[in-house]
Amino acid sequence: MEIEEFRSAAYKHADWIAGYLEHVREYPVTTSLQPGELIAALPENAPETGEPIEQIFADFQSTIFPALTLWNHPRFLAYFSVSSTPPSMLAEFLSAALNVNAMLWKSSPGATELEQVVLAWLRQWLGLDESFFGIIYDTASIGVMQAIGAAREFIDPEARTRGMRGDLTVYVSEHTHSAAEKSAITLGFGQENVRRIGLDDQFRMRPDLLREAIERDLAAGKRPCCIVASVGSTSTSAIEPVSEIADIAEQYGVWLHVDAAYGGSAAVVPEMRHIFDGVQRAHSLILNPHKWLYVGIDCSVLYTRLPDVLRRASRLGSEVLKTAEDDVVVNFMDYGVQLGRRFRALKMWYVFRYYGRQGIITMLREALRLAQLLKGLIEASSDFEVVAPVPFSLVCFRHRSDNEFNQRLLQEINRTGKAFLSHTVLNGRFVLRFAIGNFQTNEADIREVWQLIGKTAQQLIAAEASATVAG
Ligand SMILES: Cc1ncc(COP(=O)(O)O)c(C=O)c1O
Repeated sequence: MEIEEFRSAAYKHADWIAGYLEHVREYPVTTSLQPGELIAALPENAPETGEPIEQIFADFQSTIFPALTLWNHPRFLAYFSVSSTPPSMLAEFLSAALNVNAMLWKSSPGATELEQVVLAWLRQWLGLDESFFGIIYDTASIGVMQAIGAAREFIDPEARTRGMRGDLTVYVSEHTHSAAEKSAITLGFGQENVRRIGLDDQFRMRPDLLREAIERDLAAGKRPCCIVASVGSTSTSAIEPVSEIADIAEQYGVWLHVDAAYGGSAAVVPEMRHIFDGVQRAHSLILNPHKWLYVGIDCSVLYTRLPDVLRRASRLGSEVLKTAEDDVVVNFMDYGVQLGRRFRALKMWYVFRYYGRQGIITMLREALRLAQLLKGLIEASSDFEVVAPVPFSLVCFRHRSDNEFNQRLLQEINRTGKAFLSHTVLNGRFVLRFAIGNFQTNEADIREVWQLIGKTAQQLIAAEASATVAG
């Protein structure tokens, strides 16, 4: 591609992105694509000869874009709503152009040092002390695997050479993200050695049951290895009692990992700092800037107070990767299985500098306020109920009708393309999840989507009534 062709295409792409952001509410958040439809619409073989960039871009707009669920849309309210903000997008563009690989300090010194700087900034914003060493991974799922690998190294350093003996146990709650259990399976702990601890009436791990499980395992000759506690669980965003869990971890000498992938960002807000009570005592902690810190996917941060253990768990010297600076620098490749690493620190740096701590706090506070507003609207309605506490920006609620009705309600709302919600099941009840977190979501979005939910429910009831009469 000639440089002038690139320049012109880059401007056109930038214009399209600006137009998308400006008119985002005119686009349906969900797609009507049917399974297999895009595959059928595209050629079976890649082109033999190159095609003009204008044609590729036009096909993106006409064929690929309409096939997408728009995650970066203010009415994307499913799972955990996330944002790629404009400064994050710009940094991604630069990062793509430079194609820097942050595997070693030597492989691009500034990328490694910028990562150290932005993770120290974030650590300060979160009120964590200097003993926490940070590293960026792609996702929390990989981060928890590295954390459990470090826990294994902490409890049984010989497992590194000998392999697992099948006696190490991992403790998660019934609502811990499945990535923790998957990691334990992948690392060879054996699924039979994963304990799923029961929940209290607010969907939080029960410390008394955790202690009982550990005692039972000790009596059976097992070695408790790692506890995973959540600050913002996936289903309901529950904050587990980390201080009490930390007491247990310390008493039994077990590694404590805190999964704050979604909720952790809220600790930047001074009045929310309490959510990190006890987290200072954890051995490791995950927080995803790509969930609720206005940085585009992917970007997940692991902090640990024991970086040497994390390093021992993964490090393997290789002649081709030796450098003269090895003793005085951080080589992030030593802290995980991954060698090649994207230059993710750049987008954190752009976002943190563009908004500043105050700007980030303002955005987080607004999402927290909107969640309380929605909670109030639901509580004021006689047809719906809020079914879990709302400590962050996720509201779990349901129509007072049965599961089947709530399932159909969700389907109908999502089919309109005007909003995208997701679901969970709590105590056997089908529940709708309304997650707020996109940087463009505003009060009008919340009120209009709430009206849409009410109207859709009434239509379903009316349709059922006329079907009964007709029947
Ligand atoms: C609490 C929690 N932990 C971990 C994850 C996994 O995150 P990732 O997609 O970064 O692997 C999620 C995903 O939603 C989550 O909610």
